[in-house]
Amino acid sequence: MAQTEYIVIRALEDGVNVIGLTRGNDTKFHHTEKLDTGEVMIAQFTEHTSAMKIRGKAEIQTAHGIVESEAKK
Ligand code: TRP
Repeated sequence: MAQTEYIVIRALEDGVNVIGLTRGNDTKFHHTEKLDTGEVMIAQFTEHTSAMKIRGKAEIQTAHGIVESEAKK
């Protein structure tokens, strides 16, 4: 399954986690990527990944617009 849409995640603090969640009947974490300030991850939704969870302060650019996640207080 070749998806074309990419999600760009730009870390605005150290230790931002990009967590991939599985597609299908159960929704589980299957991969965690840690980004430090200024690091960028470019990712797609795939056959294996139906959702992503971003933990920490980051800018997330999608076809739907740009959102910012916040640091935990
Ligand atoms: N092996 C994963 C997949 O093909 C890699 C991946 C794609 C991923 N998108 C992701 C991991 C988003 C974390 C977050 O689905």
